[in-house]
Amino acid sequence: MKAEDFILKNYNSSVESGSVKWESPSNIALIKYWGKKENQIPENPSISFTLSNCKTITKLTYTKKETKDFSFDLYFEGKQNEAFKPKIQTFFERIETYVPFLRDYHFKIETSNTFPHSSGIASSASGMSALALCLMSIEVDLGADYTSEYFNKKASFLARLGSGSACRSIEGELVVWGQNESAESSDLYGIKFDGEVHSNFNNYQDTILLVDKGEKQVSSTVGHKLMYGHPFAQQRFAQAHENLAKLKAVLASGDLQSFVKIVESEALTLHAMMMTSMPYFILMKPNTLEIINKIWKHREENNSNVCFTLDAGANVHVLYPENEKESVLNFIKKELAVFCQNGHFITDVVGKGAQLIKK
Ligand code: PMV
Repeated sequence: MKAEDFILKNYNSSVESGSVKWESPSNIALIKYWGKKENQIPENPSISFTLSNCKTITKLTYTKKETKDFSFDLYFEGKQNEAFKPKIQTFFERIETYVPFLRDYHFKIETSNTFPHSSGIASSASGMSALALCLMSIEVDLGADYTSEYFNKKASFLARLGSGSACRSIEGELVVWGQNESAESSDLYGIKFDGEVHSNFNNYQDTILLVDKGEKQVSSTVGHKLMYGHPFAQQRFAQAHENLAKLKAVLASGDLQSFVKIVESEALTLHAMMMTSMPYFILMKPNTLEIINKIWKHREENNSNVCFTLDAGANVHVLYPENEKESVLNFIKKELAVFCQNGHFITDVVGKGAQLIKK
C-alpha cells in the first residue's frame, strides 16, 4: 500500500460529538530501528515483541467546533498537562492529510500509563499507538467502513508518524516494520509477523529492570539524526537485514541459544552506534553493565537461556522463556534487583496487541 491509500476521503461531517477509548501496549525490539529517513521512514527493518502489562489507556472525546485551528486539551493521569502538547501538535500536523477532520473538532485527550511515568520506560510507543487507534475509531464513528486489516494498517501508519516504534504496538505478538525480503512488510506500517513461531517463544517473559528512572540525556530523535553521516551506518543497516533473516529462522526452529546471540548483539550494536556517533554519547549506566555481567554468569552457570536487550536508555529488559519463569525471577530478586533504582522492576510478558475499551 502507498501513503495515499491512507487518506480518508469521505466522512459524515454532521457528527457533533462522541468519545472513544483504547489501551495500547509498549513493545520491545529484538532487531533495532535506529536511523530514519524523512517522514519517519526507517533505514532498516525491525521486529519486536509486543508487551502486555506496560500500556497506555487513552480516551479521546471530540466536539464539533467552528474555528479552523487544531484545538485539544491534554490530561495525563487526571491532571492537565502542557508538557506533552507540542508532541501532539506535531503529530496532528504530520497526519492531517490522512485524517482531514482534525481541525473540525476540539479534542479532550485523557491518558494514563500502567507503568510509572518517571520510570525511564518510553511511553511514546504505547501513547502514540493508543492515540492513533482512537483517531481510527473516530473515522469509523464518522462513517468509514474498514476491514480490520485496513484499520490496523492505518492505525500503525498514523502511530509511526507520532513515534516510529509506535507502529509496532497495534498487534501482537511479534511485529515487523520495514521493507525486507518479505513481500508483505512495509516502511509505512508494522504488520503481525506471519512466519512460523516455535512454541519456545509462547508467553516469552520480559522483566524490565529500572536502572535509571530519570529523563534520558539524549532523546531518540537526536539519536536517529546522528545516524546521518555516521561512519558505520551503512554496515549497520545491512547487518539489521541479515539479523532479521537469521532471527526469522530462529523463531521457526526454536533455537534459543541463537536467539540469545542475535538479541544481545542487536542491543549492544544499538549502543555502539551511540558511542561511535559524533557527538558520541553513552546511555548505559554502571548498573546496566553490572546486570549484563550477572546475566552472562547466570546463563553460563545454570545452562539458562535468559538474555538481555536494551532500548535507548539505561534500563535492562530481561528476556526468558516461560519454562524458566520461576528460576529467573528468583535470580532477578536475589541478584539483579539491587542494581535497580529503589529495587524497582516490572514483570511483563509478550502480548496480543491493543484493545478497544467499551464506551
Ligand atoms: O520510536 P523512537 O523514535 O523513539 O525510536 C526508538 C528506537 C529504539 O527503541 C531504540 C529501537 C526500537 O526499534 O524500538
